[in-house]
Amino acid sequence: MAYDTFAPSQDLNSGPFSPAADSALWRKQFLLGAATASYQIEGAVHEDGRLPSIWDTFSAIPGKVLAGDTGAVACDHYHRWEGDFDLLTALNFEAYRLSIAWPRVMDEAGRPNQKGLDFYKRLLARLKEKGLKTFVTLYHWDLPQHLEDRGGWLNRDTVYRFADYADLMSRELAGQVDAWMTLNEPWCSAYLGYGNGHHAPGLANGRFATQAMHHLLLAHGSAIPVLRANDPASQKGIVANVGRGTANSASAEDQRAAHLFEVQHNAWILDPLLKGAYPEDLFELWPGTEPLVLDGDLKTIAAPLDFLGINYYFRTNVESDGGHGFTEVPLEGVERTQMGWEVHPDGLRDLLIGFDKTYSNLPPIYITENGMASDDKVVEGHVDDPQRISFLKRHLAAVDSAIKAGVDIRGYFVWSLMDNFEWAFGYERRFGVVHVDYETQKRTVKRSAELIAKFLAERRLRN
Ligand code: FCB
Repeated sequence: MAYDTFAPSQDLNSGPFSPAADSALWRKQFLLGAATASYQIEGAVHEDGRLPSIWDTFSAIPGKVLAGDTGAVACDHYHRWEGDFDLLTALNFEAYRLSIAWPRVMDEAGRPNQKGLDFYKRLLARLKEKGLKTFVTLYHWDLPQHLEDRGGWLNRDTVYRFADYADLMSRELAGQVDAWMTLNEPWCSAYLGYGNGHHAPGLANGRFATQAMHHLLLAHGSAIPVLRANDPASQKGIVANVGRGTANSASAEDQRAAHLFEVQHNAWILDPLLKGAYPEDLFELWPGTEPLVLDGDLKTIAAPLDFLGINYYFRTNVESDGGHGFTEVPLEGVERTQMGWEVHPDGLRDLLIGFDKTYSNLPPIYITENGMASDDKVVEGHVDDPQRISFLKRHLAAVDSAIKAGVDIRGYFVWSLMDNFEWAFGYERRFGVVHVDYETQKRTVKRSAELIAKFLAERRLRN
């Protein structure tokens, strides 16, 4: 598929991070950080007692990941974390979002693996020494394979195993974590993992997707009181990826299609979390896929949150499929990234303002991921990434305008600190603000990161 390339004449001259004088981005209370996830950067998959995860299994199956890539080595962060954290500080980031690999810290019987725990303790201690705020995701998709062998997220028992895992981690790491996130993007785990098979474990069944989602959300809701009891001073939340759907025409059918797109991407997760109910429209879209829900489940899922993490990447233009669903109609002549995703910062602003209207109990928001992939190359020791600079600038401006419209947004994390294993797309897609040469593991700061660092230094001086 051919995509429109970025026209560098767009919006690059004023520098990326010189927001207007009245912008909330200048306030030191607005956190600016970088994000990563365990399987995407750590490597060392057989070390120190780590057990296999569903991503080890899935990426080993030919055809599942572009170029046959796996996370076996990734960015070798397991051995290079000190240097990577020096980069975080050199770039003036104030917060870091990482995830814990469940298969590193617990054995099959649920007993702690001390070596794995020590790894994360060292990481968090160093981040604290450096004065960074620590945002920790418990589940960024690397389910222990032995749990998948017993049904994974289709098995209600995984909910209780997750609560045990949350209990262990919050007892061990209490005081080292500023903000806990139970799950990263349950939509991807449920829909891509169990609904269409593009992600691990690779199952493709609509009924599986809704049941996996129910168990994921229940795992989240069951973990929240555990985290509160063990680590009362930290913030507790969850991360949802959200999608903007727009209608291809003004017809009632296409408007309805766009609505259903957002039900499937956003309300499927946010309604149970914030309203204690699944959206009815979801089962109009996918008839006969209602999950098995036991008494009390929805109350557990709707446990009050201290914050909501929002990940945003692109918008999708849709039309009615003539029945109860929608189909994508890719727009021509729009700017796209290396992923083929449309660059659409207004979608982020509109969603944030929309959520604020829809959910009267919307907790404070952190943008826990936003960023883009480009085919970045090191040329004479430098990496120029003009599209990313422009992308980040425009998305930060969108966040600022949502704040001005009254939405309580407390921070923004760029995805990602460094290029890494981009799931089914392997290493080809480069999302980092730091370039990684996978042959040598050499890190090269991209131009975007230099400009972020400059802005953050200036902001520190002003505050
Ligand atoms: C999100 C994932 C993250 C990364 C980005 C590009 O869906 O949470 O791990 O792969 O997409």
